[in-house]
Amino acid sequence: MFSKKIINNLDKASWIRAMFEEGEKLSKKYGADKVYDFSLGNPYAEPPVEVMESLKKYILNSEKGIHRYMNNAGYPKVREKIAKFLQKQSNIELSANNVVMTVGAAGGLNVVLKAILNNEEEVIVFAPYFVEYNFYVDNHGGRTVVVSPDKSNFEPNLSDFQNSITKNTKALIINNPNNPTGVVYSEEKLKYIAEIIEKKEKEYGTTIFVISDQPYGEIVYDGTKVPSMFSIFNNAIIVNSFSKSLGLAGERIGYIAASSKIKDINLLMSALSFCNRTLGFVNAPGLFQKVVCDSLGAKIDIEEYKKRRDFLYENLTRIGFECVKPQGAFYLFPKALIDDDVEFVKRALKYNLLLVPGSGFGCPGYFRISYCVQFDMIENSISAFEKLAEEFNGN
Ligand SMILES: Cc1ncc(COP(=O)(O)O)c(C=O)c1O
Repeated sequence: MFSKKIINNLDKASWIRAMFEEGEKLSKKYGADKVYDFSLGNPYAEPPVEVMESLKKYILNSEKGIHRYMNNAGYPKVREKIAKFLQKQSNIELSANNVVMTVGAAGGLNVVLKAILNNEEEVIVFAPYFVEYNFYVDNHGGRTVVVSPDKSNFEPNLSDFQNSITKNTKALIINNPNNPTGVVYSEEKLKYIAEIIEKKEKEYGTTIFVISDQPYGEIVYDGTKVPSMFSIFNNAIIVNSFSKSLGLAGERIGYIAASSKIKDINLLMSALSFCNRTLGFVNAPGLFQKVVCDSLGAKIDIEEYKKRRDFLYENLTRIGFECVKPQGAFYLFPKALIDDDVEFVKRALKYNLLLVPGSGFGCPGYFRISYCVQFDMIENSISAFEKLAEEFNGN
């Protein structure tokens, strides 16, 4: 009666949601303060003052016409401001014509994939990766190709990457900083990737787009810099959102910015606007386009996330978990204490710990902790992690 593919996908996509529902059950049974829910990447942080002031301004001053439709790509002034903001970071010429406002990064990714993919074309992703990529690529008739990581640092294995490129490769999605590992790919690594792409483009006579999914771009620690993708890749398309950097996940606001170096850039931008419209988004939320324009450059308090990262990383490694120290985003991706990460995560439920298995990110044997949660929950969870580790260490 319903779409067979979607019914089938419901099972594949269920990990994070399943954990969330499990958390609700456990909270009812034991009380919310006894449940340590690390399953969702839903920022606890309130938006910064710039966002609140801007919202107040638009609500109190009731400027005429602000609730109407606008250009499918979004307000030209907002797009121009974002273009100039990105131009400063990259030193390539950008204008409003390079930017389309979108319904979050998720909406933006779907718009880009719809605009570039033909049936059966391939999109490469680096494992571990945001699980939704599979569904987004499939939405638009493409095929996801997964490149395995070097487990010592969770950077992509470059020879696997090179071998995974075929004449059907249309795009590579890079998520920097990465969900679920928190790893930030260095400029050096990205330049190697660019060299490989250019070589393969010449060999096959194709164009390979680099879609840079970077909603965590502002959330970095220890002075780490996220390299500018426009400076490194010729065919770069940035997809970004304010869900994490401004704590606006529920407001669904983001953008696509495409490099001026892309051949036929004007045609691409028309295609992106068209897809924004015909996927049914029509345009990104109007009020929040204006609010993020006023708040560009502001961000939530990164020190609060750093405090959580440091506390969890120190305690988990002390307890005996192996983990790469994240340099960005708000996730940790430790090794499970048994090979079967799904079983491990199930056993963690006994201690009211809600974790997500690495299998859900194309990387079995690991699990994800999302630490965008209240600090006292993290403090209280440590004894539960200790008990979990004791169970596997046989003490
Ligand atoms: C890697 C990655 N890309 C995209 C998204 C979607 O973000 P948005 O809320 O902007 O749609 C998320 C959300 O968690 C994410 O982790």
